[in-house]
Amino acid sequence: MFSHHLRPWLARPISKCPSYRLFSVFSVAQHENPLGLPRKGAPPTMPRKGGAIDKRPIPNVGKVIAVASGKGGVGKSTIAVNLAFSLSHLKKTDGSGRLRVGILDLDIFGPSVPTLVGLQNSGEPSLTEKNALRPLINHGLPSMSMGYLLPKTPDDPDAQNDTPIVWRGLMVQKAVQQLLFDVDWRASPGGPGIDVLVIDMPPGTGDVPLTLAQLVKVDVGALIVSTPQDVALSDVRKGIAMLRKVAVPITGIVLNESHFICPSCTTPHYLFGAPDGFRATAKRLGVDILAELPLVPSVSTNGDAGIPFSLVSSEVQKKDGNGGAQWNEKMMEVAESVWKTLA
Ligand SMILES: Nc1ncnc2c1ncn2[C@@H]1O[C@H](COP(=O)(O)OP(=O)(O)O)[C@@H](O)[C@H]1O
Ligand SMILES: [Mg+2]
Repeated sequence: MFSHHLRPWLARPISKCPSYRLFSVFSVAQHENPLGLPRKGAPPTMPRKGGAIDKRPIPNVGKVIAVASGKGGVGKSTIAVNLAFSLSHLKKTDGSGRLRVGILDLDIFGPSVPTLVGLQNSGEPSLTEKNALRPLINHGLPSMSMGYLLPKTPDDPDAQNDTPIVWRGLMVQKAVQQLLFDVDWRASPGGPGIDVLVIDMPPGTGDVPLTLAQLVKVDVGALIVSTPQDVALSDVRKGIAMLRKVAVPITGIVLNESHFICPSCTTPHYLFGAPDGFRATAKRLGVDILAELPLVPSVSTNGDAGIPFSLVSSEVQKKDGNGGAQWNEKMMEVAESVWKTLA
């Protein structure tokens, strides 16, 4: 399957083919550097048992908010992307303009940020002189994702979405490290970095949150996303326990798809059950609920179309009645709470 997708790229001289960064994905011998970025400086190392932890700042990034969930499909990527745009509407703490925000997709196995920001058919990121990846920008927001680095066949740009990634263990850790440390978030060389980086985390409690907690020397907060169902909640408990174990502060929790408000009324309908269980769990865990977000059809259709709902005009929002307006208001409240905690 891979050779089929890769054949057109393999035929090109490797130095002319930007996708060569990924070739090492398929070559076990080079798995120390899965994205194939040219090397610079000493690579970060995973802490060994009893050894010193080699923590590094993320270049040109002020604060980090990691959007995490116990399980997939709860709206984590949707919320991460909309949170990034909501944060970019906020003023800086010193009043000097708006926050500069970027989004990093660390969902290596299911990157969806490219689609959500309308860049799924973009070209590959270019490299700076210092061999860092340049983020891609749409709607004024810089983003980086594994999805931009996967090979695409010219006649079927969607093929990347169907290409499973077969990496394991160390290769995942190294790819995550390159996405964390080898991206230049500055808008221009010598320009200022970003104030806050929103990270779309993979679901669950795997290696990625561990890598983040152990290697990154920045103020990190975690925003947990859940849906009201009991299964989602039990995974939330595990996720929170894990983040606490690795000392990542929990900024708060968001209940997504909490209720539905039909376009012609104002009554919340609790389609997946009342949020009482969720509220009780959050209280017991000592985690603040930052919002209970409604289920809004246009949040989904807009996401698929690459135009995050936080960017749509109030005219478009009205299609979904009070639910649409409420979603955006609540996302702004989440952004304000997050920034208050991080700043
Ligand atoms: N509040 C919401 N209202 C309507 N659809 C939503 C909402 N939140 C998420 N969705 C939809 O649910 C699906 C899963 O969301 P996604 O953000 O991809 O989840 P995850 O990243 O947790 O796997 C997507 O189709 C998305 O558009
Ligand atoms: Mg996702």
